[in-house]
Amino acid sequence: MSTPTDLHRASTTAPVNIAVIKYWGKRSTTLNLPTNSSLSVTLSQSDLRTHTTASCSHSFNSDSLLLNGSVQDVAGARTQACFRELRALRSAIEEKDAAEPKLSAMPLQIVSENNFPTAAGLASSAAGFAALVRAIADLYRLPASPTELSRIARQGSGSACRSLFGGFVAWEAGVEEDGRDSLAYEVAPASHWPSMRALILVVSAEKKGVSSTTGMQATVATSALFPMRVKDVVPQRMKRMEKAIHEKDFATFADLTMRDSNSFHACCLDTTPPIFYLNDVSRAAIRAVEGINAKAGKEIAAYTFDAGPNCVVYYDEENEALVAGWFKAVLGSVEGWDGARGGAVAPMGEGELG
Ligand code: ADP
Ligand code: DP6
Ligand code: CO
Repeated sequence: MSTPTDLHRASTTAPVNIAVIKYWGKRSTTLNLPTNSSLSVTLSQSDLRTHTTASCSHSFNSDSLLLNGSVQDVAGARTQACFRELRALRSAIEEKDAAEPKLSAMPLQIVSENNFPTAAGLASSAAGFAALVRAIADLYRLPASPTELSRIARQGSGSACRSLFGGFVAWEAGVEEDGRDSLAYEVAPASHWPSMRALILVVSAEKKGVSSTTGMQATVATSALFPMRVKDVVPQRMKRMEKAIHEKDFATFADLTMRDSNSFHACCLDTTPPIFYLNDVSRAAIRAVEGINAKAGKEIAAYTFDAGPNCVVYYDEENEALVAGWFKAVLGSVEGWDGARGGAVAPMGEGELG
């Protein structure tokens, strides 16, 4: 039996991020390298987060991962890549200093909880792998920068590389085969645009039928629209979106966000067999935002959907009454996310917006 002193442990949390220019498509499935750059907002102060504890001990039989109380397979290449890279960084420390405990040789036990729906298009893989990587890095006391951790988290799930940073975050696709230039970076901190809000409308907490990984590979293989999105549409939008964020130009931010969500879902529909992430309630939310914007005479709200039916609506705090107020009136209790107050998830029943 091992002694209790053999047990080492670290806990952390990571937030979700919701892309306004979507990552969809891999040019390398082994390294998780994207076909296009993407840009997201990290919902740091929202209630949507992953809490992960990483432990290691000689008394554990093998590496393990418990997610929301159920045992997960850790044999997959993505989780293995994260474990391998983090262990290599720890080994380097142990080789330099003989006094350091040999943590890299011990089996890892990861226990993780998402406090929001998993695999439902609310970026659980992003918060999940960001938390997994940071928890192990803390356990190993690695002096790694967010950029280095982000490079590792990317190999767990692409979108996770953006959750290691706060605020407005871009993931540069890069061109190198080994992915050394495929990195996330902060476009602007949350404090640059503190009045930005996000409303999360939970249409369904059910696990999606087609995972993001499977869906994007099918799109790359079969969609005729997709090459145009990658080559012409996204590169221009990335530049315009960065400018809109720097200038705090909400109307342009909203226009690009909605167009990009629609372009991504159009590519899903253009996939063979077609992938339907949106449902009737999602479409009702789109109509609701269109209605709010029409009434205001300008874009004051922007919807976006990841790979699932759940809606995220971005708006500026100055329009809280017109945007969140509208949803509140229709749906009951709705709260927004912001950089200071925290946030909440509004559940939407089938047809409530219909
Ligand atoms: P989502 O839209 O929620 O990101 P994905 O299809 O991209 O859905 O990924 C869902 C998968 O991500 C889950 O089935 C699980 O394998 C992994 N995942 C989710 N949360 C965690 C977590 N906290 N720790 C480790 N892996 C996670
Ligand atoms: C629609 O990062 O979940 O949310 O790299 O295969 O794990 P894997 O995919 P994932 O894909 C996210 C797709 C998206 C858009 C985005 O977050 O940019
Ligand atoms: Co995901």
